[in-house]
Amino acid sequence: MERIETDVVVIGAGAAGLTAATELKAAGKRVVVLEARDRVGGRLWNGDFDGHLLEIGGQWVSPDQDALIETLAELGLETYSRYREGENVYIAEDGERRLFEGEIFPVPAKTEGEILGLIEKLDALVAEIDPEAPWAHPRAKELDEISFAEWLGTQTDDEEAKLNIGMFIAGAMLTKPTHAFSALQALLMAASAGSFSHLVDADFILDQRVVGGLQQVPLRLAERLGDDVVKLEQPVRTIRWSPEDPAAGVTVVTDSLEVAAERVILALAPILYSRISYDPPLPRRQHQLHQHLSMGFVIKVHAVYETPFWREQGLSGTAFSPYELCHEAYDNTNHGDTRGTLVGFVSDEEADGVFSLSAEERQAKILESLSHYYGEQAKNPVLYYESDWGSEEWTRGAYAASFDMGGLARYGADLREPVGPISFACSDMAGKGYQHVDGAIRMGRLAAANILQG
Ligand code: FDA
Repeated sequence: MERIETDVVVIGAGAAGLTAATELKAAGKRVVVLEARDRVGGRLWNGDFDGHLLEIGGQWVSPDQDALIETLAELGLETYSRYREGENVYIAEDGERRLFEGEIFPVPAKTEGEILGLIEKLDALVAEIDPEAPWAHPRAKELDEISFAEWLGTQTDDEEAKLNIGMFIAGAMLTKPTHAFSALQALLMAASAGSFSHLVDADFILDQRVVGGLQQVPLRLAERLGDDVVKLEQPVRTIRWSPEDPAAGVTVVTDSLEVAAERVILALAPILYSRISYDPPLPRRQHQLHQHLSMGFVIKVHAVYETPFWREQGLSGTAFSPYELCHEAYDNTNHGDTRGTLVGFVSDEEADGVFSLSAEERQAKILESLSHYYGEQAKNPVLYYESDWGSEEWTRGAYAASFDMGGLARYGADLREPVGPISFACSDMAGKGYQHVDGAIRMGRLAAANILQG
C-alpha cells in the first residue's frame, strides 16, 4: 500500500471537492483529492455520443449563481443562452395542447388566479427564510411537519393550480412527490434561488449553458491541480483519526493508498457517507441525521433530431404539463449545432413506473409524451439517451439529496458541522445554490475557508 503525506485530503472530485482543493492549494496547503470514479466531475458529465455532446448531468446556469459565474469567468469558459424564441406548449388534463407566451400557463381564469395567489404567498414566505438557516425561521418546526402537498391543500382546492405549483418544486427541483417533503424543504428550495417566482421563470432558472458543457468546470479545475493531486479510481473505504490526539491528524484509506493529513473534507453526496467506515465511528447525531436525507430521482431524456424542427413551427421548445410523463421539456440544442436536441424530464414515481418497463417500451412511452408537445416528428430522433443516475454507484439518484419530513428543522443545522478533523462540503448542504453547482462551489469554498482559519 502506497503511503502519502499531505495537509488536506479531499474525498470526491466533483465541483465541491475540486473547488475546496483549488482554494487550499492557492493558500499554500498541500492537497490530495481521492475520487472513486475513473473521471472527475461527479454529477457533471459530458457524454460523447459519436462526437455529439450530451450533458448527462447538470448543465444550466442562472443569473443569481454568482459563485458559479465567477468560476466560469476565471476558467475562461463561455456561456450561451437557451433557445427560447416563439411559443411554449402546455398540455391540459384532457390532453388539449395549448400554446402560450410568458410564465403563466394557459389554464382557466379561476385556476390562473389561484396560481398567481399561490406564487404571491410563497414569495412572501420565502422572503422570510434564510437559505443558510431555514431551521431558524420562527415557524420552522411547524412548516417542516406538514408535507408540501398538504400545505398546498390548505391554500386552495383547485387541483390544477396545486399540480402546477407542486411541479415547480417537486418534479422540477427536489424530484420527489409533493407528499414526500415538507413545506419548509420547499421554501428552502425556493429561497436558495432567491424567490419562488424565480423557479416559475424558466428563462431565469434555465438561462445559460456553457459552450462545450458544464463538466468543463471540474475538468479544468482538475487539470490545474494536476495528476499528482487528483487521484482517480480511489474509492475511500476508511477514515481513521484519534479523538484523544487530534494533532495526530487523520488517515484516509483506499484499496491502494493510505493518505495521512491534518484534515479531510468529505465532498460527496451525504447519502454516501455510510459507504465509508469511520474509526472511531461518527457521533450518534451524524449517524442519525445522515439517515434522514435521501436522493431525489429523475430521468433526463435527450432526443437529437436532424434539425430543430419545432422552431419551424414557431415553438420555443419549452413545454410543461403536470399531466404528462415528461412534465417539462426544452430546446437543448448545443451551441453552433445544426442538429436539434430536446431534453425532457421524467420524475420520481413516473420514473419508477417507466423503469419497470423494457428499454424499448420506456423509450416509446417517453417519445410518445414528447410528441404530445412537439408533434409526431418527435417520435423519430437520430439519437436517444436516458441519463440514469439512480444506477450510478457513486451518486444513486438525481438531482440531489433532501431531508425527509421533519428532518430539516431537526437536523439541518448540524449537516455542515465538522467532526474532529472531518469537514463536509456538497451542493446538497448548500443554502444559496442548494442542489446546484453554484451551491457545490460555495460549500467547497466554505470548507476550505474554515480549514484555513484553523
Ligand atoms: P458530486 O456528486 O458531483 O461529487 C461527489 C464526488 O464524490 C463524485 O465524483 C463521486 O464519484 C465521489 N465519491 C463518492 N463517494 C466516494 C468515495 N467513497 N471515495 C471517493 N470518491 C467518492 N445543477 C445545476 O447547477 N444546473 C443544472 O442544470 C443541473 N442539472 C442536473 C441534472 C442532473 C441529471 C443531475 C444529476 C444533476 C443536476 N444538477 C444541476 C445538480 C449538480 O450537478 C450537482 O448539484 C453538483 O454537480 C454536485 O456537485 P458536488 O461536488 O457537491 O457532488
